Amino acid sequence: MDSMMDVSEVSSSNALVQEAVDVAPINRVSTHSHLKGLGIDSVTHEPTDTSGGFIGQQSARYAASVVCDLIKEKRFAGKAVLLAGPSGTGKTAVAYAMTLELGNHIPFNSMSASEVYSTEIKRTECLMENFRKSISIQLKERKKVYEGEITMITPVEMETPVHSFGKSISHVNITLKTTKAQKTLKLDASIYDQILKIKASVGDVVYIEANSGNIKRLGRCDLYSGQFDLEAEEYVPLPNGDVLKEKDVVQYVTLHDLDMANAKPQGKSGDMMNLLKQIVKPKATEITDRLREEVDKTVDQYVRDGIAEVIPGVLFIDEAHMLDTECCSFLHRVLESNKCPVVVLATNRGRVKMDNPDDPGFHGLPRDLLDRLIIISTELNTPDEVYNIVKVRAIVEGVQLDESALAEIASISVNSSLRYVLGLITPGQILAEVAGRSTVLGEDIKQASTLFIDYKMCKQKYVTDTAAAAAKTRN
Ligand SMILES: Nc1ncnc2c1ncn2[C@@H]1O[C@H](COP(=O)(O)OP(=O)(O)O)[C@@H](O)[C@H]1O
Ligand SMILES: [Mg+2]
Repeated sequence: MDSMMDVSEVSSSNALVQEAVDVAPINRVSTHSHLKGLGIDSVTHEPTDTSGGFIGQQSARYAASVVCDLIKEKRFAGKAVLLAGPSGTGKTAVAYAMTLELGNHIPFNSMSASEVYSTEIKRTECLMENFRKSISIQLKERKKVYEGEITMITPVEMETPVHSFGKSISHVNITLKTTKAQKTLKLDASIYDQILKIKASVGDVVYIEANSGNIKRLGRCDLYSGQFDLEAEEYVPLPNGDVLKEKDVVQYVTLHDLDMANAKPQGKSGDMMNLLKQIVKPKATEITDRLREEVDKTVDQYVRDGIAEVIPGVLFIDEAHMLDTECCSFLHRVLESNKCPVVVLATNRGRVKMDNPDDPGFHGLPRDLLDRLIIISTELNTPDEVYNIVKVRAIVEGVQLDESALAEIASISVNSSLRYVLGLITPGQILAEVAGRSTVLGEDIKQASTLFIDYKMCKQKYVTDTAAAAAKTRN
């Protein structure tokens, strides 16, 4: 019974937990929001289908999909992936698409290896934290909820006694509709704050927990699909049955969220504090190995009780060549442990001189770590591929690119990088707006490219300038 209590405490601390899980991944991966997966054809198993938003990189996508199959069959333990290829060839994109292939609600946590040097905490501690951010715990509980599509929200105001000019909300009337019924509820003013926060509006499907009043937006009712094609919008069907029903409410928290909640009990999160009291006594003030062990033990108990499920996510470590010996040996150790996310390393280095003169230093990583890695290489995109990638990106960013703009971008990409030309879309749009146009033309892109230079142009300019200076001295 006690452990049931714990779960409800975690679940009802909705606001605190939801933010961390829902908000962070979206922010981090927004540059890859056009990707829906590796785009593998379900019949041929070949990476020909571009509906996933992925263009080109056939062999990398195929290899990544094979790795995903191995992971799903639990035959990838103790191993990790290394994505090797020049900058802007889609290494992060492949890792992100792999996460999408592995299933819904799989956390994607991306870090750069150089982060371990820039923080005040120990290098391995920084890695550990990121490992725990990459493992999600799914908590399931049956709850009484009101669920339906919002057909009306009316905040009811009252005069504020403390402030003679202001008005405040006394309560909110909200009408929820299902395929079968319709109900109007009177909600406490505090729930109105939540409604504003999650930006729920008429046409959205939500559920409100009957006991706690926590409200969760499930998505936009699919009757509205196609009306606003926002890429981030998720459409859900109009719920069946009664408005008041029993529902398996699912919450996701990462192991790191639990560590944090237990280490720093503060703020209004009273529910989390209760959780803390039950797991670790006396109060800890920082995350220690012992605290993590306690958190793990409690999680394991939830799993045995059938209330929780551990969902390993993907930990993406960019600039892997920056990892030193200590970090590499830490990686070895964690890869062997039972709670380990899928580790995907990435580097744009071919060979790096190592401290150990006998080590050839391929990809800047020590040989024994390389032995564990499945290496997938990404190749430079052709102008045609760049053309198509930019086309997809422009749709997602809501920018209208004319055929001439796309052609200009593809031709510029030959002497620069994909990342550089993707960066020209928005400046191009601004220049078009200045000229009073809503469509971006080739000339806008050309002009944008003269305003900003990229690495290759920098190098070219340096070479020309140095040559000019040398010529001047000679004269
Ligand atoms: N083959 C591709 N298809 C679609 N989008 C791609 C492809 N390659 C790269 N991108 C997009 O281009 C941008 C840069 O790619 P990124 O994955 O960050 O490169 P890298 O990690 O290799 O430096 C991202 O927005 C990414 O989603
Ligand atoms: Mg990257």
